[in-house]
Amino acid sequence: TRTPVNVTVTGAAGQIGYALLFRIASGHLLGADVPVKLRLLEIPQGMKAAEGTAMELDDCAFPLLAGIDIFDDPNKGFEGANVALLVGARPRTKGMERGDLLAANGGIFKPQGQAINAHAADDIKVLVVGNPANTNALIAQAAAPDVPAERFTAMTRLDHNRAISQLAAKTGAAVSDIKRLTIWGNHSATQYPDIFHAEIAGKNAAEVVNDQVWLADTFIPTVAKRGAAIIEARGASSAASAANAAIDHVHTWVNGTAEGDWTSMGIPSDGSYGVPEGLISSFPVTCKDGKYEIVQGLDVNEFSRTRIDASVQELSEERDAVRELGLI
Ligand code: NAI
Repeated sequence: TRTPVNVTVTGAAGQIGYALLFRIASGHLLGADVPVKLRLLEIPQGMKAAEGTAMELDDCAFPLLAGIDIFDDPNKGFEGANVALLVGARPRTKGMERGDLLAANGGIFKPQGQAINAHAADDIKVLVVGNPANTNALIAQAAAPDVPAERFTAMTRLDHNRAISQLAAKTGAAVSDIKRLTIWGNHSATQYPDIFHAEIAGKNAAEVVNDQVWLADTFIPTVAKRGAAIIEARGASSAASAANAAIDHVHTWVNGTAEGDWTSMGIPSDGSYGVPEGLISSFPVTCKDGKYEIVQGLDVNEFSRTRIDASVQELSEERDAVRELGLI
């Protein structure tokens, strides 16, 4: 039998945590033959609810679940972690300035990065879900100098999946026929969902759509503002779809992208496509053997360039702000 993989989940008592943990335990994160040990990290106020979720996980009698431990100390929560899903974050509350939001999240992601640096397993892979995800990932990465920077990633897979779904609805294609979609930039309203290189059943998606007005005025804003539309409809922010995207992100990273396809991940830039080195920005990536690579050589047209640059500009400003706060 295989040794269990240690998976740390922060914010385990939150709504994404509740949608995520059962799928990890049932084998969807890593594979149907990979046993997992869950390490749940919460703040003291969340411990009791996390214990309740752990009771329910026990009650599922998942064959792959080799154990559950719950902590309110990051140094313990990340001990031996092979995969870490950083979900818990400080949400923006009414009247909160961006600086306050970044400072509050710095207070979470800096110590978590330090704990990962000191205690995680050598093969640690980190996905940051908690918002502002890209910059929180940057803060954690900067606090973990002994961990290769590329192990810190931010989630734009929900945006990627949303874009595929919108494109399928527009064209009548099956989602499984859509490939090579890209989310560029920040997981925020400035993100750029790019269909110019996407394919629908082997044909160029932009040519199949053939509707620049829909692209600019409907598709892009619908994908970028989908989070707000979900809150408006559900009275709560995306949870199951966010958890699903986190599962997809890690599963693809570990198990690879399909031949001829790629995915979108927020990753430290190596300078590709004019994105300043070190910014955690979303790119088209292929994954193989537990590693990812940026898809190179794509032709970026004027329409795309403007939008990528605007989102990357926002990321640069967020980086400047956390630098000023002494968080990186
Ligand atoms: P939630 O408020 O239901 O749960 C958050 C949980 O995190 C709470 O149980 C809280 O006690 C815990 N927490 C807070 N600080 C913590 C810390 N320092 N250590 C450990 N746990 C801590 O929030 P929800 O709905 O689960 O969302 C979590 C985050 O995910 C939010 O920041 C949200 O904006 C973000 N999100 C990101 C998406 C993406 O596409 N990247 C999509 C949807 C949500």
